[in-house]
Amino acid sequence: MDWQPLIRAAGETRERAHAPYSGFRVGSALLTAGGAIFSGCNVENRSYGATVCAERVALASAVAAGDPTPVAIVVITDTSPPSLPCGLCLQALSEFAAPELPVRLVNPAGESRELRLEELLPHPFELPAG
Ligand code: THU
Repeated sequence: MDWQPLIRAAGETRERAHAPYSGFRVGSALLTAGGAIFSGCNVENRSYGATVCAERVALASAVAAGDPTPVAIVVITDTSPPSLPCGLCLQALSEFAAPELPVRLVNPAGESRELRLEELLPHPFELPAG
């Protein structure tokens, strides 16, 4: 797995984060089963609850393009160690990605760690059958 194109895309997209309220800029990029890269940044709103995380922006773009299955995802934040995705984003990813999805967390200093989606969210919400 060559992570560099995803890390580059996530870093470039992070530059476009709209984060005037938290000052916390996040970029994300995912590779799809179709071989495409979709990226996202966090988009905050003065009505704080309308804020969308970078990971879900990237995921929604992939779904809207008809190529909805992430096979790898990068999240870039300017923290040490690199930040973990929030529970909402993990739940959203679990709808479309396999539990084994590799999630790579990086920062601009080059620190990185990799976890699988199932390690980050071992028990996603499932609708009851029937
Ligand atoms: N944020 C993300 O973009 N991804 C996450 O997984 C967690 C949080 C954003 C939302 C908000 O704009 C800022 O980080 C602070 O919570």
